[in-house]
Amino acid sequence: MRINGTLVSAEEIEQRLAEIGAEITEDYRGKDLLLVAVLKGAFMVMADLSRHIALPVDMDFMAVSSYGAATQTSGVVRILKDLDQEIADRHVLIVEDIIDSGLTLDYIRRNLEVRKPASIGIATLLLKTGLQRVPIDVQYVGFEIPPDFVIGYGLDWEGKYRNLPYVAVMEEE
Ligand code: PRP
Repeated sequence: MRINGTLVSAEEIEQRLAEIGAEITEDYRGKDLLLVAVLKGAFMVMADLSRHIALPVDMDFMAVSSYGAATQTSGVVRILKDLDQEIADRHVLIVEDIIDSGLTLDYIRRNLEVRKPASIGIATLLLKTGLQRVPIDVQYVGFEIPPDFVIGYGLDWEGKYRNLPYVAVMEEE
């Protein structure tokens, strides 16, 4: 496998997250907002997006694992780390790095809905166009991208490349 060029540059990510952060600031002003990032991939988006939200937000983290093969989501998700806090009557915004099949997020959203939050929103840096196997209502999308295998900015290949400041396509040699 090799890295084949930049799909979304560090500058483009920074600019788009600033725009989305400003939108979130307006949309949630006066509300009790809890940002929930889904580890591991979303740690980078969480850190950068949250710095563009000019509100006193709370943050929490979930870690999930798909039971399926490494590069494919099966839709069966195991919670490795749950939220530390209750979310009843609070406004939850799930922060993701990428939505592919949408199955991970669909599971997490349904899991959180049971806990009766005031609202659940979704913000994702990347959305793979047309690949969703379930309808997903996403409020904030950074970039719609083609169905390539992408790495960087939180996204890994065999655990590596999460630290790249940009998003790149990974291809067979
Ligand atoms: C990625 C990403 C999403 C999920 C999206 O996580 O962070 O949670 O895949 O795929 P889906 O829309 O097809 O469900 P991954 O399973 O790679 O775990 P990681 O973030 O720990 O690398």
